[in-house]
Amino acid sequence: MPTLVQAAYTPKKWTLAGLQGISDNTLAVHFGLYEGYVKNTNLLNEQISGKIAAGQVSGADPGFAELTRRLGFEYNGMVLHEYYFDNMTSSANGGPASGALKDALAASYGDFDTWKKDFAAVGAMRGVGWAIAYQDPSNGRISNHWITLHEDGNVAGFKPILVMDVWEHAFLLDYKPAERPKYIEAFFANVDWKAAESRLVTPHTH
Ligand SMILES: [Fe+2]
Repeated sequence: MPTLVQAAYTPKKWTLAGLQGISDNTLAVHFGLYEGYVKNTNLLNEQISGKIAAGQVSGADPGFAELTRRLGFEYNGMVLHEYYFDNMTSSANGGPASGALKDALAASYGDFDTWKKDFAAVGAMRGVGWAIAYQDPSNGRISNHWITLHEDGNVAGFKPILVMDVWEHAFLLDYKPAERPKYIEAFFANVDWKAAESRLVTPHTH
């Protein structure tokens, strides 16, 4: 009988009080939602492990299939929120003034402003999800992607560099649903560009 390794995740904590244009109340609610994803990721893993241990693994079993299908939603809900909160700071300084990130964005989009305009446009797309600037580790190129919910649109192996939550819960206490562009500008005012830059990887060929 194999031993299944249980790796329970512990919710991370952030000190982000005093963001510009994103209230502490919004953050408190949002941290609570994030903790729900951690809890549900742990729960799913536990339930699936239980089925494995009991010899109840079958693709034809709707219970097993549904648990497994939900992994993409809960795992990405957990991980993307960690990237999001990690790439904000209450002591932001406006933009990537220099360095490898500015170079990477400029190399991919021509200049920072063109990249930013595209990223904001992706974030303003109709629907519930995320805007993510990903780096292709094979060539270093940055590309902006729309993610539906948490799991539809992520590119396997690409590195998240800047992650923006555009679910309405991210801003509804501070802005009207139609004011998402205002929230996006607020997000930009709080970006921790150093944190984003530290995620860049050195391109490798494969
Ligand atoms: Fe969220």
